[in-house]
Amino acid sequence: MRRFSRITGTGSYLPPRRLTNADLAAQLAVDGIETSDEWIVERTGIRARYFAAPDVTASDLALEASRHALTAADLQASDIDLIIVATSTPDMVFPSTATILQHKLGVAGCPAFDLQAVCSGFIYALAVADAMIQTGAASKALVVGAEVFSRILDFKDRGTCVLFGDGAGAVVLEASTTPGILATEMHADGKHMGILCVPGNVSGGKILGDPTLKMDGPAVFKLAVGVLADVARSVLAKAGLTEADVDWLVPHQANIRIMQSTAKKLKLGDDKVIVTVHDHGNTSAASIPLALDVGVRDGRIQPGQTVLLEGVGGGFTWGAVLLKM
Ligand code: ACO
Repeated sequence: MRRFSRITGTGSYLPPRRLTNADLAAQLAVDGIETSDEWIVERTGIRARYFAAPDVTASDLALEASRHALTAADLQASDIDLIIVATSTPDMVFPSTATILQHKLGVAGCPAFDLQAVCSGFIYALAVADAMIQTGAASKALVVGAEVFSRILDFKDRGTCVLFGDGAGAVVLEASTTPGILATEMHADGKHMGILCVPGNVSGGKILGDPTLKMDGPAVFKLAVGVLADVARSVLAKAGLTEADVDWLVPHQANIRIMQSTAKKLKLGDDKVIVTVHDHGNTSAASIPLALDVGVRDGRIQPGQTVLLEGVGGGFTWGAVLLKM
């Protein structure tokens, strides 16, 4: 009998410190950087974001989200046999945030690794976990997106620092005789590496290059809108479905205009799109599992419904996961 994977629990966590656009504008004004609630809302749809306290790391946020997902799946951490954490803001250069999370969950033994695909990280991680479950390499996976993007922002660059926030989302993915995940797609094209990157690195005990996020906003916008519509169509085709079969689109939460434009291309009404960007900002690899958990917990996403997850991010990377809840 064919082996599938199915999401059996979702969870998420946001750090307590919430900054509205007005709060952030006031903070930036101290350094003479001008921005406004009107500009941010009009260009991005973002009204607030959450920033972790300085001593809180990605694994701390991942731990809270994972606990919620495990409870929802009615499992203990000791039941898990695979941990993947998608993050671009790991606790350390190494070991991986996934092994740190494993230790904080109080378990040992199962494989645990990080996956770095920036804002597409959770899509990649879910696709890898699905493949491992299908082959029998794992049966109960914890798949997490966790970020402290506030650590890599240049608060003198108003074109980027207003866009991002911190948070974590997690799912438990279990082997099942019924799908579950219907189809996945992962893509990358490294020639676009320069339009969205953190170019610095650690070498000889020093940070070489700039350790803050750099982005060509209009170039990212144009590329994102194109690949998101294409990858949605191809993952649907792979599963033998069409846009009309989609109950919910849960896109990467970068910018409301990117989401609306993609939904329009797919002929999906705004009422079929889970949107959290207004309250969370862009939480990179955490944004899709955070939005999924919000949709599940507020009762919009129901068991048996068809959900299309899709993401795009630095690299450039992009991908989609089509699934039945
Ligand atoms: N407040 C006020 N003014 C600002 C701000 C700000 N926070 N940021 C930029 N401006 C100004 C610029 O200085 C510029 O002023 P000028 O015309 O006097 O030079 C003007 O606003 C327009 O700047 P643009 O960068 O051209 O603004 P644009 O309309 O392209 O919007 C934005 C910028 C929102 C970043 C847009 O390009 C975008 O959404 N791009 C997609 C990128 C994205 O969402 N990235 C998220 C990460 S990537 C990912 O997750 C896939």
